[in-house]
Amino acid sequence: MRKIVSLLLGVALAAGMMTGCGSAAPASSAAPASSDSNAPAAPAASAAEEKGTIVVGYAQVGAESDWRTANTKSFQTTFVPENGYTLIFDDAQQKQENQIKAIRNFIAQEVDYIVLAPVVETGWETVLGEAKAAGIPVILSDRMIDVSDDTLYTCWVGGNFIKEGEDGVKWLNDYLKAQGRDNEDINVVMLQGTIGASAEIGRTEGVEKMLKENPHYKLLEKQTGEFTQTKGQEVMESFLKAYDDIDVVIAQNDNMAFGAIDAIKAVGKVPGKDVIIVSFDAVHAAFESMIAGDMNVSVECNPLHGPRVAEIIQKLEKGEAVEKIQYVDEKVYDQTNAEKELPNRLY
Ligand code: AHR
Repeated sequence: MRKIVSLLLGVALAAGMMTGCGSAAPASSAAPASSDSNAPAAPAASAAEEKGTIVVGYAQVGAESDWRTANTKSFQTTFVPENGYTLIFDDAQQKQENQIKAIRNFIAQEVDYIVLAPVVETGWETVLGEAKAAGIPVILSDRMIDVSDDTLYTCWVGGNFIKEGEDGVKWLNDYLKAQGRDNEDINVVMLQGTIGASAEIGRTEGVEKMLKENPHYKLLEKQTGEFTQTKGQEVMESFLKAYDDIDVVIAQNDNMAFGAIDAIKAVGKVPGKDVIIVSFDAVHAAFESMIAGDMNVSVECNPLHGPRVAEIIQKLEKGEAVEKIQYVDEKVYDQTNAEKELPNRLY
């Protein structure tokens, strides 16, 4: 392609850091992070250069959830040579320092575009300043960053996390009313995602704002489950030891909800009945859980950003303007519509 990155891609391939569509490994077993190596790559001929593909470096958060796996797959199946792209994929294993290293590697390789799904919102000024100085556009996907200079990124595409949090509690209000429990005092615990991540910040804000509007709600405790099933289960076990009267669990993603459900079952309680489960993401397994009667609701967070980012890149390639902030439409699914919706789900 235009830059010497294409020369370096052959080396990247040899290092096993690239994943393409056809031969892509499952997302959960993404290739080792390029950030692990700071060694300068030696020039080598690459198919990518011959084909003149657009080279995209994707600094992914990790593989912590079903949502993340679907998101990785969306990029790996979109940014393929057949569509005119070469993808350099980096799994940061939920560590910001790995993402910073990955971005520096992308800059050194002179990629055409950098896509960043930031682990947390803060701490990006320096490295994105370096990308800007190198003239590489940065597209933020999924999560936002907190910077005073918004020229450090070209645009952002993702879900409205505050609205998702509000929608979760709006659903709870309606559900409790339908159950004739709207005048009952309701004890809530919340499993938060990675502290400082947009999805955690937004959902916490949306949920807490809505809970405060109703004096019957009492938020007993909130704690991070790091968006993982294992940690979600662990934290829920500790909540169940500390409180014997939990009415509602708000888990900020489906995987933590699955962990919480296991913890609730282990103490002989019935999830979905004794304890209402409010969750986020609406991944395939969440629909199965709702159909089984365990999870009550999952607020959708759509991970299929690959084609959206490709559309942005195509516009930029043509010199067209792109909207700075692009929200994705998202819905709410519960036990009343899960079975009907399941066959339509793409992730
Ligand atoms: O940023 C999106 C969140 O990150 C998803 O809700 C969660 O599952 C993922 O890890």
